[in-house]
Amino acid sequence: MTDTAPTLQVENLETHFFTKDGVAKAVDGVSFTVGRGEIMGLVGESGSGKSVTGFSVLGLVDPPGKVVGGKVLFQGQDLLSIKEEELRHLRGNRIAMIFQDPMMTLNPVLRVDTQMIETVQAHDASVSDDEARARSRDALGQVGIPSPEERLKAYPHQFSGGMRQRVAIAIALLNKPDLIIADEPTTALDVTIQGQILYEAQKLCRDTGTALIWITHDLAVIAGLADKISVMYAGRIVEQGGLGDVLDHPAHPYTCGLLGSVPGHNTRGKRLYQIPGMTPSLLKLPKGCAFKERCPHADAACETAPEITHPVEGRALRCAHPQVDLAGVAS
Ligand SMILES: Nc1ncnc2c1ncn2[C@@H]1O[C@H](COP(=O)(O)OP(=O)(O)OP(=O)(O)O)[C@@H](O)[C@H]1O
Ligand SMILES: [Mg+2]
Repeated sequence: MTDTAPTLQVENLETHFFTKDGVAKAVDGVSFTVGRGEIMGLVGESGSGKSVTGFSVLGLVDPPGKVVGGKVLFQGQDLLSIKEEELRHLRGNRIAMIFQDPMMTLNPVLRVDTQMIETVQAHDASVSDDEARARSRDALGQVGIPSPEERLKAYPHQFSGGMRQRVAIAIALLNKPDLIIADEPTTALDVTIQGQILYEAQKLCRDTGTALIWITHDLAVIAGLADKISVMYAGRIVEQGGLGDVLDHPAHPYTCGLLGSVPGHNTRGKRLYQIPGMTPSLLKLPKGCAFKERCPHADAACETAPEITHPVEGRALRCAHPQVDLAGVAS
């Protein structure tokens, strides 16, 4: 472990699902880095491999899935080669995941205060019950739960779905972990509360140096939150770069398509662009570029799978027909 190592460095990660119909390469050579206090948006349509990427980092892939290659370095330490027990310890303390379904975090038979106090004390056994309760109450307040003192005494089923998700998010924030992976946690919440939670998550990162990966299919969510973006398609990163760079100068036709389908990006009254077709099944990917059948620019060059390139520093692209001259934009 080194002080200078980024919080998370993922290199050439490969996770396959060995199904009876064949091998699905859900994560196929994914690389990215998230530094201290940095927020990365991981964006892509349904089935592109976002959740499996998150689960792979945390060692939570179950059969028929398996991480078959690559490196996951957390503060320089390879999580793919450490003991399950050590990994479990890290997950409870320095790394937290917020799942799409809050009941993956919450225990239905325990009161919220019991769960939250346990979480605080698992991280630091010297914290008193009173202090742990105070921190829990503050964390509930942070995510906008009214009367947090009262609500601490409730069981998960006594909250509405949106409130339950906020409790799960509060638990993830409790120990100020070094890394949080949030898997579309606010999709089901209304826009105001979603905004509040994004604000709190961003504040945590800025104040405490927590690194955050925010998984979403909705580019608009990321636009106000992230420092950088990785766009995934069919198990691979197709474009990567700083937030402003990618939003202002998208180079991959898929990113252009995603941006075209974000309301507000287009002028009023103009029909929203929709990427034609659907995400291909990972078991029946076309030869060459996986996006070519949906791409308006595809030609003979796309019969060969494009390699990842780095047209300018901090930018990655996997496409034979970049939509902007990135070197020109940068100069
Ligand atoms: N248990 C499983 N068995 C077989 N294949 C799986 C399994 N879980 C995931 N996959 C494969 O991995 C691919 C990626 O799944 P993943 O859940 O990561 O997508 P996602 O990008 O998170 O989508 P969504 O936006 O719908 O959550 C799926 O399309 C599927 O082919
Ligand atoms: Mg998912």
